[in-house]
Amino acid sequence: MFVAAGSLAVRFLRIPGCSRCRWAGMSASAWLEPGAKCLFDEPVRVRVNGLSALQQVTLKASLTDEKGETFSSVAFYQADKRGELDLSRSPSLDGYYTGTEPMGLFWSLTPANPLKRLVKKDVATSPLRVRIEVFDGHSGDPQGLPLAACVNERWFMSKGVTRIPVRKGRIRGVLFVPPGNGPFPGVIDMYGSVGGVVEHRASLLASHGFLTLALGYFGFDDLPNHFLNLDLEYFEEAVNFLRQHSKVTGPGVGAIGISKGGDLVLSMTTFIPHVRAAISIGGCNANTLGNLHYRNITLPGLGISLDRARFLESNIIDISETTNNPRDEENKDCIIPLEKAEGHFLFVVGEDDKNWNTSLFAQQAIERLKENGKENYEILTYPKAGHLLEPCYFPFCYASFHQLAGLPVLWGGEMKEHSLAQIDLWPKIQMFLRKHLEKQQSQL
Ligand SMILES: *[C@@H]1O[C@H](CO)[C@@H](O)[C@H](O)[C@H]1NC(C)=O
Ligand SMILES: *[C@@H]1O[C@H](CO)[C@@H](O)[C@H](O)[C@H]1NC(C)=O
Repeated sequence: MFVAAGSLAVRFLRIPGCSRCRWAGMSASAWLEPGAKCLFDEPVRVRVNGLSALQQVTLKASLTDEKGETFSSVAFYQADKRGELDLSRSPSLDGYYTGTEPMGLFWSLTPANPLKRLVKKDVATSPLRVRIEVFDGHSGDPQGLPLAACVNERWFMSKGVTRIPVRKGRIRGVLFVPPGNGPFPGVIDMYGSVGGVVEHRASLLASHGFLTLALGYFGFDDLPNHFLNLDLEYFEEAVNFLRQHSKVTGPGVGAIGISKGGDLVLSMTTFIPHVRAAISIGGCNANTLGNLHYRNITLPGLGISLDRARFLESNIIDISETTNNPRDEENKDCIIPLEKAEGHFLFVVGEDDKNWNTSLFAQQAIERLKENGKENYEILTYPKAGHLLEPCYFPFCYASFHQLAGLPVLWGGEMKEHSLAQIDLWPKIQMFLRKHLEKQQSQL
């Protein structure tokens, strides 16, 4: 089960039932607590012993994703007087991060090709395997045999969660059902311009007791390959499908979306009464890019002005100033009339978002709610965080290929602040959903 290249594998001694592994003839060992397997969003404690007193060592983490992209991180540590290291207590002295950061090796995993975003499509049958190695001395590019190594399997579905592809009526997506009889809060989960069905967040939510539908809306199965004309009846059908599920706490459900998925969840909550809680991450207060139809209403898509795009080194573009301002007269019809919503909103803002001016959009959304005497919102703002706020420990992505732009775009944020924002945000997302979805019946 250890991932070791070729002939190196024979050097591993496996200790049955133990998460440690050690090099034959070497005294140092590295292990993980509480164990070598965990959910992707769970912290682990990385420990090393058998080093010499105050020995300087380099810790390296590495993984290869499903597309074969390699990610790695390196940090410099010093063992204590007993020759031990505990990453929950020992500070990194230098490397990809500094200071006491128990999960630093994980969130600082950086792609060898700087424009890659981690891909994890198979959430059901394989974990992400993070290999952790300990090398003598301080080196940014440690070579040769490590003193000790271990592998952390980070899974997306806890035991008993079932994954069910959904192809019912017009709905295309994947349902994740927690173990047990429930009832569970129901949540619809959507990503943005990346298209398809993204399952990593939905499967983690199900692992924490939410019955979650990862919903496709373009670029999947027989759905259109663009979102120039979406109709909200499609999303309404998904809401009804979910809320009628026998294990879902009724009568309402929640919705979480990032980027384009963010404005969609705001529109859903505004027009579909059974959406009780909406989380918009890096989203807009206007319907963006394509038209959105609902019965006799059409919200045109907020446009962009490409002349305001800036080309950076290596063909990356900064599109942070390209999206038009919803408040400008010609864009007024794009604005989502949020004040009509009965559900609750959570706006999540990375202040250094380089995809959209998310701070501005959230501020406009809140002003509109306040002007209408509404208080059904919360906002979480993270300085120096970017657009792609993912579940905790997801590696930071600085820039990557954007389907619509046809080029790599900057997402914004600084690695440490963005990663710490994700760690803060992930439990708050779950608390918000529970608060508004769990006790609905008793409130009626
Ligand atoms: C849409 O239909 C509703 C109800 O039939 C009506 O009250 C409303 O004025 C119509 N809106 C538009 C924009 O036509
Ligand atoms: C975002 O909007 C604010 C308020 O209008 C403005 O000051 C800021 O320059 C905008 N940022 C970008 C990147 O356009």
